[in-house]
Amino acid sequence: CAIAVDVDVNAVGPVRCVAKLEQLKAARATVLGRTIAVEIAHYVALIRLNRPEALNALNAQLLTELADAMKAADKNDKVRCIVLTGSEKAFAAGADIGEMSGKSFVEMFESDYFTPETDTICNVRKPVIAAVAGYALGGGCELAMMCDFIIAADNAKFGQPEINLGVVAGIGGTQRLTRFVGKSKAMDMHLTGRFMDAEEAERSGLVSRVVPAKKLIEEAMTAAQKIAGKSAIATKVVKEAVNRSYETTLREGILFERRVFHALFSTEDQKEGMSAFLEKREAQFRDR
Ligand code: HXC
Repeated sequence: CAIAVDVDVNAVGPVRCVAKLEQLKAARATVLGRTIAVEIAHYVALIRLNRPEALNALNAQLLTELADAMKAADKNDKVRCIVLTGSEKAFAAGADIGEMSGKSFVEMFESDYFTPETDTICNVRKPVIAAVAGYALGGGCELAMMCDFIIAADNAKFGQPEINLGVVAGIGGTQRLTRFVGKSKAMDMHLTGRFMDAEEAERSGLVSRVVPAKKLIEEAMTAAQKIAGKSAIATKVVKEAVNRSYETTLREGILFERRVFHALFSTEDQKEGMSAFLEKREAQFRDR
């Protein structure tokens, strides 16, 4: 079975999941794909990459299942924030080299290798946190950077070692890493293929915080639950506005921010959030 988040068959998409519907209904909050696992609790979907035999290398099946799971989580009312993680040894050690090695230019070009799947992942509107332990290399590092922010375990290692394979990053690494850590460090990483440890990644702005490996999921889930308690309208707007900062000019980005800031004054959540502050109580957001 591929992926379903929750039991709504309409949200599942691929017919290949129908056979497991009864099982999913029973499990309700835990769904397994062949290469990923999804758990939903407290309005957070925890999606785990699960190809331990290949250090979670990204093959077509994994990326398809992941894209399906992300899309389903984005539509699921019981999910308000998503955490994407791997294992303690590897978030993902890159695109699957065995799957790619024999392909021709025409095959890569005509299949638009990994474009549809990564576009789906990047189009998720709910906040997505990458919880990275171990290796995040090549496509693994690029996948982490597609998320809204990265929480790293102290054993995390980031790298773009494609140069060692005679190629270059292919799902955003030359662009995103450069925006996150600056040209000099990005060039260093892409040209030498060296790895960056968690401490350097935090210092360089690639990750938002570093936590002990054993506490990674707990920290990421706590952050996700905090986000899940906010107005879902406001969190989506934050995501769109921050992303504008590297997709447009400063002037356009500030104008976009100003307009969405003004627009939020049409929501009940803005009235509730500000009233709650003035009345010295917790806000009760209703996503309206
Ligand atoms: C396929 C991989 C893999 C990968 C690891 N494995 N990375 N298989 N694709 N990217 C497999 C190994 O072949 C091995 O399988 C098993 O996982 C364990 O890996 P080891 O190498 O034995 O582990 P270790 O010695 O601990 O070394 C870990 C490692 C190393 C440093 C992460 O595996 C490594 O360098 N991997 C490749 C990293 C890389 O080059 N990534 C970029 C890929 S290109 P067996 O069967 O032997 O046990 C890319 C382009 C993105 O990502 C663009 C997308 C379109």
